Amino acid sequence: MTTSAAGANPLDMALEHVPVHPTTLVIFGASGDLAKRKLLPALYNLAHEGSLPVRFNVVGVSRGALSDEEFRAECKEAIHRFSRRSVDPAVLQVLLDDARYVTGAFDDAEAYATLRGVLEEYDAATPEPLNRVFYLSTAPGFFPLIVGELGQAGLASLEGREVRCVIEKPFGTSLEEALDLNRHVLSVFDEDQLFRIDHYLGKETVQNLLAFRFANGMFEPLWNRNFVDNVQITASEDLGIGTRAGYYDGAGALRDLVQNHMLQLLCLLCMEPPVAFTADHVRNEKVKVLHAIRAPAPEEVAGMAVGAQYDGGVVAGAQVPRYLDEDGVPSGSATETYAALRLHVGNWRWSGVPFYLRTGKRLARKVTEITITFKQAPHIAFAQDDGAPGVQPNVLVLTLQPNEGVSLSLGAKIPGTRMRIRPVIMEFLYGTSFLSQSPEAYERLILDAMRGEATLFTRNDEVEEQWRICDPVVSVWGQEPGPLPQYPAGSQGPAQADVIMLGEHRWRAI
Ligand code: BG6
Repeated sequence: MTTSAAGANPLDMALEHVPVHPTTLVIFGASGDLAKRKLLPALYNLAHEGSLPVRFNVVGVSRGALSDEEFRAECKEAIHRFSRRSVDPAVLQVLLDDARYVTGAFDDAEAYATLRGVLEEYDAATPEPLNRVFYLSTAPGFFPLIVGELGQAGLASLEGREVRCVIEKPFGTSLEEALDLNRHVLSVFDEDQLFRIDHYLGKETVQNLLAFRFANGMFEPLWNRNFVDNVQITASEDLGIGTRAGYYDGAGALRDLVQNHMLQLLCLLCMEPPVAFTADHVRNEKVKVLHAIRAPAPEEVAGMAVGAQYDGGVVAGAQVPRYLDEDGVPSGSATETYAALRLHVGNWRWSGVPFYLRTGKRLARKVTEITITFKQAPHIAFAQDDGAPGVQPNVLVLTLQPNEGVSLSLGAKIPGTRMRIRPVIMEFLYGTSFLSQSPEAYERLILDAMRGEATLFTRNDEVEEQWRICDPVVSVWGQEPGPLPQYPAGSQGPAQADVIMLGEHRWRAI
């Protein structure tokens, strides 16, 4: 059951309330970090907005032995700690009133029998058929096991109801694994039951990229090789790996962020306008972009990709350790915490335009942005003098986080008697134009999964293509004898990243 605190807050008036069928949501890995930090708070915020269906139940499944009461208490604590809004106890109470917990190892058939019993109890308590969503928020090694067990237990489909399965990232660690995992999950579920998460697609500002491109007639004519000189996509973070060494050391920056989030951004930036904003139309266009990207040959990797690792340094005034001294990192680890990559989209629209992607932990600041540098004006009719910056190419910056917005640099005359030019900035800031707070990515994605709306989820062919592009880099780096280039924590990244830039291109300051 759910209640709504909407109405108390005038900003909520503008929020869209889409119909969602009554649903039971089962979270595997319910006591894990992701569930506590993101999924449960997202559910609370949906409940707060009145966006959950009237009949809505949550079931947690995990190995730790907990009673239903203890589980509810854990959920409450996590929601109080991590919710983006302050918690209304009445909403929380209704959300978690009937929440249930199933203790069990993920390979324990008994646990699935118990789960089945719990789901049937919920069904029996309501005349309306309840849809089911299984959310796999566990370590990725468990995905095939859980999917297989759900199939064995006869839980993958149900007459007259929708049964859906949400799978967190990473979806495999290589093309081969992704192919295996896809084969396996598709032997249990149909593709239209599967929702592979890439939480960047749930971010409001990432969706705004599509609005920017396809709701404004003036940019699209410029959006191609004739006008664009180069594109940079940056996803930098100031934080280190925190307590995630166990996962991160086996993944590295390329697999953690480039293979998924950054390639998805590239797709949204480069794709052709879809005929309609539906799951298949949008995903068909995205996958065409991925098809057009040639994976680097092994001998090209050194000139197209750079990996590096953070050294100690000072971040926000505090001394922080090097990666190798972080808790849980094996000594001598050669895992990259920084990855930069140059890609080319070999199609009619983008041929010849380099796309530079970079991501890293412990860089100067957290920022996710796309920078499109346009070609220089073909002829400058006036003299440039006096050390003024002069005529520069126009640069369009789409900032996805923080300070979401769009800025465009234009050449302007410096006041005075002479013709001196310097770039000035024209800026739109999301936060000043829209007063309402954006929902978190997981709020949108959980709701979409419950509605069976797959546009913001990655399809099997996209995931496989993304691995095809990254695999050669991972494999060449894996064969290289260490140590990796280092960069000081809090810096712009390794100087070696410049080797992938063509001609006069330079990395934009983070
Ligand atoms: C996750 C990565 O997918 O994205 C993390 O596993 C990374 O390592 C995070 O920190 C970044 O997400 P956001 O939303 O903070 O940009």
